[in-house]
Amino acid sequence: MTNLSVNINKIATLRNSRGGRFPDVLNAARKCQDFGADGITIHPRPDQRHITRDDAYALKDVVTKEYNIEGFPSKDFIEIVTKILPTQVTLVPDPPNILTSNNGWDTNKNFIFLSDIIEELHAHNIRVSIFVNPALEMVEGAKKCNSDRIELYTEAYCNSFKEDKKKAIQPYIQSAELAENLKLGVNAGHDLNLDNLQYFAKNIPNLEEVSIGHALISDALYLGLENTIQMYKRLL
Ligand code: PXP
Repeated sequence: MTNLSVNINKIATLRNSRGGRFPDVLNAARKCQDFGADGITIHPRPDQRHITRDDAYALKDVVTKEYNIEGFPSKDFIEIVTKILPTQVTLVPDPPNILTSNNGWDTNKNFIFLSDIIEELHAHNIRVSIFVNPALEMVEGAKKCNSDRIELYTEAYCNSFKEDKKKAIQPYIQSAELAENLKLGVNAGHDLNLDNLQYFAKNIPNLEEVSIGHALISDALYLGLENTIQMYKRLL
């Protein structure tokens, strides 16, 4: 069974658009877990345009399932996660003002940087996942850095899914098989939705977790949050 971690950034985006407290991010996290989510993901960015630093800290007491914090490992980010001690930190190579993650790490070029960060997170008993494109050398690099897992960046799969899903999934199958041989756990995320999720999960048997935000929260506008989470869960 693949775990579903719900990324609640979009709830914070909606809240911030009006100022004030609603919709309440903490309540959304509680509800997602009550409705069947296996975890909660946030991506606090330096400009705090969605999840704020205060949200990240407050969620620590609310997330009773898996708490996954994504982000670029700046000094500030490392300070936050080593105080919160979430279940998992997912390292992404995003420059500060980017709209959304748009690339995986070059795990070879950044070997020293990533190895040092991972060592620090491991010293705090935090599991580490590295966001990578589905490329064998990046998976090998993640292992060399001593990461526990990789998160496969699924945008390319999702973009080509309608055209040729068999071809689109090939690099992901190869990367996941290599990860399994190297004893690296496999997560995935970005642009997964009700159309493309099941085929992905079915073809990546060692897929431990998907983190889904944009499509899931958008679907919930029409279908309701409880129903939507259950629909995603069923596809897994
Ligand atoms: N994984 C990472 C590293 C991300 O940056 C994001 C977007 O915040 C996701 C997964 C989830 O992507 P989406 O919002 O498209 O489901």
